[in-house]
Amino acid sequence: MGSLLSLPPTVTEVSGDLPAVTVCNRHARAKVFLQGAHVASFRPVGQGELLWMSVRSLFAPGKPIRGGIPVCFPWFGMHAGRPELPAHGIARLLPWTLTGAEDLPDGSTRLVLGLQSSVETAASWPQSFALTYSVSVGAALNVALEVRNTGAQPLVFEEALHTYLDVADVRRVGVEGLAGARYLDKVDGGIEKTQTGTLTFTAETDRVFPGTTGTCRVDDPVLGRRIVVAKTGSATTVIWNPWIAKAARMPDFGDEEWPGMLCIEAANAAADHLTLAPGQTQVMAQTISVG
Ligand code: BG6
Repeated sequence: MGSLLSLPPTVTEVSGDLPAVTVCNRHARAKVFLQGAHVASFRPVGQGELLWMSVRSLFAPGKPIRGGIPVCFPWFGMHAGRPELPAHGIARLLPWTLTGAEDLPDGSTRLVLGLQSSVETAASWPQSFALTYSVSVGAALNVALEVRNTGAQPLVFEEALHTYLDVADVRRVGVEGLAGARYLDKVDGGIEKTQTGTLTFTAETDRVFPGTTGTCRVDDPVLGRRIVVAKTGSATTVIWNPWIAKAARMPDFGDEEWPGMLCIEAANAAADHLTLAPGQTQVMAQTISVG
């Protein structure tokens, strides 16, 4: 991949159609594609994989990767005014640059990746920005997306860390942390509802919870584990599972794979979109661990 960085012993470059780096340290293993700064695997020592990946995912330049942690920026879902533009923005489709890699004293490893506005991004979105994404691989996985307004006008955007979690059977898991919260139900015309108690999955689920900043926990009784998803700098939580019919419509999602995943997304979307003054930065982060 022609990196000019001197990589620490825990980091290995992987070549191919989509270059990636792998991290293997005393806490965990992880894999990060440069396209989209896409974390595709996180496996703490002594644990199974925490991030779900589709066996049907494309790994092709300019195509989204299905699973792991897609970075969505500068819009979430369909572009409001130009539906022909790619869903969830352009950042997940572009090659990022690995700008830093270091082993930390506690044995964890930190990668830093960057993406800046260019002639190519201006064709879809004519704003000036610089993204810096920090991926820390330890007993927990921490990902932090910094957005900087490098232009002279206010920068208005949405963003999401669209994390796919690996579960034994989504029909048997419960998500704690959203009881009593309002959500927009995207499978019911976007109408507003209230989450009562533990969130469980009995059909296609696509819920946008505005104004939610807390931690979610996924109880997986089949695997006998609890995944904890904490976040900072994010006001929106999105919960998604496509269920049977939507999975069948997605060419990069196996028809039988939907029970094995759910998404818990840290976002700033819809009413929680952000505006940065020139020179201003904002950081949204998510931490994923077994708890
Ligand atoms: C979720 C959206 O965040 O992402 C869903 O709420 C969408 O509506 C899903 O289907 C997957 O999106 P994509 O573009 O990766 O297929």
